[in-house]
Amino acid sequence: MTAQPRHSRITGTGSFLPPRRVTNAELAAELAQRGIETSDEWIVERTGIRARHFAASDVTASDLALEASRHALESAGRKASEVDLIVLATSTPDMVFPSTATILQHKLGIAGCPAFDLQAVCSGFIYALAVADSMIRTGSARCALVVGSELFSRILDFDDRTTCVLFGDGAGAVVLEGSDTPGILATDLHADGAHRDILCTPGTVAGGKVLGDPLLKMDGPAVFKLAVHVLEASARKVLAQAGRSEADVDWLVPHQANIRIMQGTARRLKLAPQKLVATVDQHGNTSAASIPLALDVACKDGRVQRGDTVLLEGVGGGFTWGAVLLDF
Ligand code: ACO
Repeated sequence: MTAQPRHSRITGTGSFLPPRRVTNAELAAELAQRGIETSDEWIVERTGIRARHFAASDVTASDLALEASRHALESAGRKASEVDLIVLATSTPDMVFPSTATILQHKLGIAGCPAFDLQAVCSGFIYALAVADSMIRTGSARCALVVGSELFSRILDFDDRTTCVLFGDGAGAVVLEGSDTPGILATDLHADGAHRDILCTPGTVAGGKVLGDPLLKMDGPAVFKLAVHVLEASARKVLAQAGRSEADVDWLVPHQANIRIMQGTARRLKLAPQKLVATVDQHGNTSAASIPLALDVACKDGRVQRGDTVLLEGVGGGFTWGAVLLDF
């Protein structure tokens, strides 16, 4: 019998974006037909976003997750049959139930291993990675697929210019495996439900009807202020836990909500601007998918190399937030 691994390590990354890319100018033209005024200049200046991808109406979160998972498995050199845990973070699941993770499992052609969804909105991938790390270190799994997949276009109010220009669709995935060397060095998770109203999709399903408003609501400036503060605190916590300093961080891969929040976090941590991995300009905010999407982009373009120290950070509805520090 082989000994239980003491650590978990990312062995592969993958991502997928639906093919339809919508620039700010295209979105502004579509919104103008509804009488909603916005511009490329406003969106770029306030958010850094230049384009996002929107999925076709028949595409589900598990479809995007399947493509991202296949790419992650290929990059890890693993077959789907070797996966013994699926944790999928999403706020836009295929159905009320069963979980999108079980639908993904079936689409991957496997059965038997535990598969579940995790709902922490834009912090979902950080939560999912921390849970999978714990399950690997306690011997419940050896080869986990950790996925973030979102179709935020489905819950956007295209009559609300303060939110509909910010979000996009996509999926990202990593393969996380047991390892004798780290790997994941430290994790830090938090939530505070007192702030649930500043970012929410309050509708629900009851008696065969949608009750309440099923579209996203956000108090942007309130989210902005909270986000910058909690992201810095969480980053410092994982660095302290791992006995590392800001100077040890090679790459900051934060949740891609707004370039100003991301640059603000990097500045507070005294990280050089070139250490910040930013894809928000091309993807918009893809919620739980944004961190694994950005990580995959930076791995595939050669920035993130084996052995680099990477700081992942998420913040989102709930309010939830957290960080993961890892040696790649
Ligand atoms: N186009 C043109 N004008 C706009 C638009 C738009 N799309 N949206 C808002 N405006 C206007 C407002 O009406 C306001 O006009 P006024 O001054 O005449 O009243 C003006 O622009 C400024 O609005 P603010 O909301 O104060 O702008 P701010 O600089 O705060 O930027 C933004 C708004 C981009 C939403 C910012 O607050 C932000 O990014 N917040 C954080 C959002 C975030 O991180 N969300 C994701 C969290 S993750 C999750 O869980 C989903």
